[in-house]
Amino acid sequence: MSRLLLTHATLFTLSGAGQARRGTAMRELGLISDGALVVEGSRIEWVGQTAHIPREYFNTQEIDCKGRVISPGFVDSHTHLLFTEPRWDEIAARHSSLPESTPRPHSLDRGIQRSAREFREASDGELLAKARRRLVDLQGFGTTTVEAKTGYGLTNEQELRALELLRRLSAESLAAGLPEIHPTLLAHVPMSGTAEQTFGWAPLIQQAKTMGARFFDVYCDHGAYTLESARRLLQCAQAAGLMLKVHAEQLHPTGAARMAAALGAVSVDHLERLPADDLGTVARSASVATLLPGCAYFTGPPWPPARELIDAGAAVALATDLNPGTCPSLSMPFMLSLACAQMKLTPAEAWTAATINGAAALGMAQETGSLQPGKRADLACFETCDLREVVYSPASNLCVWVMQSGRIREQAQ
Ligand code: NIG
Ligand code: FE
Repeated sequence: MSRLLLTHATLFTLSGAGQARRGTAMRELGLISDGALVVEGSRIEWVGQTAHIPREYFNTQEIDCKGRVISPGFVDSHTHLLFTEPRWDEIAARHSSLPESTPRPHSLDRGIQRSAREFREASDGELLAKARRRLVDLQGFGTTTVEAKTGYGLTNEQELRALELLRRLSAESLAAGLPEIHPTLLAHVPMSGTAEQTFGWAPLIQQAKTMGARFFDVYCDHGAYTLESARRLLQCAQAAGLMLKVHAEQLHPTGAARMAAALGAVSVDHLERLPADDLGTVARSASVATLLPGCAYFTGPPWPPARELIDAGAAVALATDLNPGTCPSLSMPFMLSLACAQMKLTPAEAWTAATINGAAALGMAQETGSLQPGKRADLACFETCDLREVVYSPASNLCVWVMQSGRIREQAQ
């Protein structure tokens, strides 16, 4: 098996018990200032100070990191990776308050329904090529693990197709050394004209697990699923052995975060309008609070209550929410920058939220998200000795390479 020795790194290990960090523990990054790390095959074998490398590793192929930051690769635990194109004209019209440039033949041809039509009309090859391109790009910003939702199918047939495409993408990604993909079945919005909101989902949920989905997610909001429908779907998914996630409190407060936390959801996501009364309940629950700063950036405030959640002891994660309507950005460093500049996080808290806590939001904190012996060798290297430079330079990409399961992928210069 191939062995590699990294030396003289500014090493942020995030090491710990293989679980989410909460509250003040989010500020601890496990820094080893002249750090070294041994990788054996796809796993981390040893971590410590360069001065203390055990003799047995002396004759190993070495990379001198020259003081650069090495950290766990980012875990982007909430994306809608599989779509045609961002709805650029809708985004531009929202920002400029000018009319959209594309005339709409039909008033339903906008928003999620429009992306669903485009999804239906696109070939498998086109959807896969676009998603592949996004995987290359997001890995280039330091992401090594990514969650990917269905949700632009909206019919059983198209949702199954989305699951099948995600299965293919994830096998290809593994073979090509691209980020690891964790598929989620998402109940996004009921088909227009569907009276019973949960009609048709049960068979799909049953099938999803056999097709490689690990999670079930439901968008609970006005115009999407009601609290009661969402609860029924989540219970059905739980019985089918899927882990639960929820799009909660994004546009209106609904009580979805509290409900999902009570069901033991692995994460509750968005939370821009989390009712003040539910904040403590969510913070004390086992669910990771996954916040998506790109959404408030592209659609306008409120920002999610990140500071309040951490101060109340929550395990907060940050993710991109990459999607065609509310966040076309796939850059985790940009999300960290927004979280610090707009949501009152410290750079250390943001880094924790984007690594070990993102892994916890995928039930993967024992496997990735920190640098310690036995874990997968998923690393990112940045062209700086101070991680705050990564956070506060959102328009520069400082990531020089990532290591994906022990394989180094250099950035194209
Ligand atoms: O997470 N909130 C629901 N879904 C997406 C937006 C999807 C879209 O606009 O296409 C989100 O923000
Ligand atoms: Fe989303």
